[in-house]
Order: sequence, then structure tokens, then C-alpha cells
Amino acid sequence: MAGEGAVRSSAGGRGAPRWRYVARALLWLALLAFTAPGSDGTALAAPGRGSAAPAPKLDVPYEPSAPEVVERMLTLADVRPGDVVYDLGCGDGRIVIAAAKRGARAVGVDLDPQRIREARANARAAGVEEKVELREGDLFETDLGPATVVMLYLWPEVNLRLRPKLLRELRPGTRVVSHAHDMGDWEPQRTAVVGRARVFLWIIPERAPR
Ligand SMILES: C[S@@+](CC[C@H](N)C(=O)[O-])C[C@H]1O[C@@H](n2cnc3c(N)ncnc32)[C@H](O)[C@@H]1O
Repeated sequence: MAGEGAVRSSAGGRGAPRWRYVARALLWLALLAFTAPGSDGTALAAPGRGSAAPAPKLDVPYEPSAPEVVERMLTLADVRPGDVVYDLGCGDGRIVIAAAKRGARAVGVDLDPQRIREARANARAAGVEEKVELREGDLFETDLGPATVVMLYLWPEVNLRLRPKLLRELRPGTRVVSHAHDMGDWEPQRTAVVGRARVFLWIIPERAPR
């Protein structure tokens, strides 16, 4: 039959069509398996991969200090070249960047990786990345030994928890400045008011109170 001949000739001979169909079907299956989402581990997020990392457990939520408060904190601490300024919970890096612009070296520590990414980008944009180190980490696990100035904008109970560490690790004469919150019965050396904000200064004494 003309019809049969046409089929045979297009299939390439007796017995061949079934093999061709099987081969094509296998080829399609292989292609589907190869391109299906998840087949190469990238199109689908594997458990634990590509999914967002768990949010860090912060002691204090993010809230930036206003620029005029930052400037007053630096002035109160008399930040100058030669200082090593630590901001514990540095947020977007505004305090360490402002300190670097005054000629100091500065270290910002924040538990939130998003803040550290922002701070690095901001330090780069401000042209002070050489003078600023930004670390993702817990302020309670940070060695404070090299600091000559420590900046804080935390919560009252976090200040109180931090107080023994400040007194233990900081050298006498180191300045500690806190935006908004005091240190309980550790009297500040000076207090300043900036708009509705208060800023406190302590100087680490020779013989630290506990
Ligand atoms: C109120 S914001 C102050 C930001 C910045 N210092 C400023 O004054 O603009 C507090 C910051 O502390 C960070 N933080 C909270 N708990 C922390 C911890 N245990 N270790 C390090 N950073 C922490 C938060 O992610 C947040 O960026």
C-alpha cells in the first residue's frame, strides 16, 4: 500500500519504527529529567540550601542614631587620630564611618549580617573602608582590648549586662559613650542632650568598680 510504504520509508525500513519511537521516548524522558526543576540542584531550593538563614537573635533591634547624635557622641569622646573606636552593635556603620572621617581607626560589630553588608557598602561609598573593620559577631564575644573608645546604642539591661565586660577588658582611660541609656549606679563623667536624645560618657577608672 502506498500508505504503508510511506510510513516504512519515513521510518527507515521493516522493524525500525518501534526502535525509533522507543529511542525518541527515552531521549525525551532523559531531557525532561535533566531540565526538570531540582534535577541539577539549582532550580529548586534543596532543604537547607538557598532558603533564608534563620534570623539572628538580637539583644536589641536595629534603630540608627540620628546624625547629630553621632557627631555629639564622637565629640563627647573627643575622638581623634590614633583612637581605636569600637561600636558594639554598629548597625549601618554610621558611627564607625564618622569616627574614621575624624582620623580614627574603627571597628563595628553587629550580629545581623544584613547590617554588616550595609555597613561595608556605606564605608566603601564614604571612602573610609581602609580605616574601618566590620565584623559579623556577638558584641558579648568581642575582645574589647584594643579599643580606646567604645560606642553603644543598646538597651538599659544590655548596658548593665555589658558593664562588667567593659570594666574587665578596657584599659584605664578608655572612653565609653552610650546613646540614650545609662549604666545604673555607675555615674557618668558627663551627660549631653541632643534634641530629645541623651548621651553619656564614662571613663574607665584605674581601679574598676564591680
Ligand atoms: C539600636 S541599633 C544601634 C545601631 C548603631 N550603633 C547606631 O547607633 O546607629 C542596635 C544594633 O545592635 C545590633 N545587635 C543586637 N544584639 C547584638 C549582639 N548581641 N551583638 C552584636 N550586635 C547586636 C542590632 O543588629 C542593631 O544593629
